[in-house]
Amino acid sequence: MEQKDFKMVAKTMYGLEGVLANELEALGAKNVEKLNRAVSFEGDMNMLYKANYQLRTAITILKPIYSFEANSDKELYDNIYKFKWEKLLNADGVLSIEPSVYSSIFTHSLYASQKTKDAICDRFRRMFNQRPTLTKENPDLILNLHINENQVTVSLNSSGDSLHRRNYRLRAEMAPINEVLAAGLIQLSGWKRDCNFFDPMCGSGTMVIEAAMFAYNIPAQYYRYDFAFKKWADFSMPEFRRVRDEADKGITEFDYEIWGSDISGSAIKTATENINNAKLHKDIELFRADIQEQNPPEGKTLIIMNPPYGQRIETDDLFNLYDIIGRVFKNKYSGNTAWIISSDMEAFKYVALRPSQKITVYNSNLECKFCKYDIYDGSKKAKKQQGNQEEQEQENQD
Ligand SMILES: C[S@@+](CC[C@H](N)C(=O)[O-])C[C@H]1O[C@@H](n2cnc3c(N)ncnc32)[C@H](O)[C@@H]1O
Repeated sequence: MEQKDFKMVAKTMYGLEGVLANELEALGAKNVEKLNRAVSFEGDMNMLYKANYQLRTAITILKPIYSFEANSDKELYDNIYKFKWEKLLNADGVLSIEPSVYSSIFTHSLYASQKTKDAICDRFRRMFNQRPTLTKENPDLILNLHINENQVTVSLNSSGDSLHRRNYRLRAEMAPINEVLAAGLIQLSGWKRDCNFFDPMCGSGTMVIEAAMFAYNIPAQYYRYDFAFKKWADFSMPEFRRVRDEADKGITEFDYEIWGSDISGSAIKTATENINNAKLHKDIELFRADIQEQNPPEGKTLIIMNPPYGQRIETDDLFNLYDIIGRVFKNKYSGNTAWIISSDMEAFKYVALRPSQKITVYNSNLECKFCKYDIYDGSKKAKKQQGNQEEQEQENQD
């Protein structure tokens, strides 16, 4: 059956908009446009299913359904009241509203959400003498209410729970990296699945699991079953199954090694459980080791690491750790590329190597830099080349 295209918005994290736009283009989305922490695109229901199932760097896929201008509470209420909500929800259904409000007219997002709820419920009550229940628990329909000054957009949240919940992580250690961010960093590094991957501070294993999923082309939501769109009136299970089967057929071989290590026994235990749960135990090797003791796999290797930052560690120990990281880079990783994500700009200085690239990203609300280090062989000639290249790159950045 010929399906109509419509607009969608994939929300993401700051700094990952470009990666997400590339992912969408690769999926065949139309009119892909980068926004702030989001990417808009067009496609049909098939694309909506694909976007939810396959995008590694999307948090939520929204389907905007209704936009209008509102300059007062009354205008918000009246416009919401007019919409035919009964086409999307039964009178005895369960509704949830997620407000995101940036407006001098509507200064309290909960109040705007309450007005929206009142208008929808009043309409149902007038038509059916019954109104939907409002709760976040297992809703039939999730409305995203976005107000930017006087511009109101109501969208259907097609994903439900944030898409970083891939459903492979059973437990987490302290400060686990968000799966969407991990997947984004891997793609920002420009990895072409053409060498080994190593995270020497792997914690709960998020980075190595995302690396393996990327390397083997395992769909981002391979382990997840719940999506909000499954409760929509127009949901087609056969169509969704086709999307899933087609994406699953794309799972491929990967000829290199994926390794993770961590000094903490508890972290290695947690990572092992998560990796087993994702059935990736044959594809990822884990070691309990201090970064100073652990060699990377033999051959060309991409290293991405998320060392501790600030909060839970003494400053002196932190600086010492980053100093050790820099030494390990020079002594053990030469000939490779290593990336560090950290929010601690002071600690970065202790790595004592000049990054050839710095990208700003956010880990929850912490502004971080994702820094690239090209680690050359120790020979004089190589060092000179590195110096020249660093100077050139610094000039380009300045
Ligand atoms: C921010 S956490 C990494 C979180 C991880 N990305 C995740 O998703 O769970 C930092 C990790 O570095 C480890 N670590 C700290 N010092 C280390 C060292 N000297 N050698 C190896 N690992 C170390 C800690 O045990 C911790 O698991």
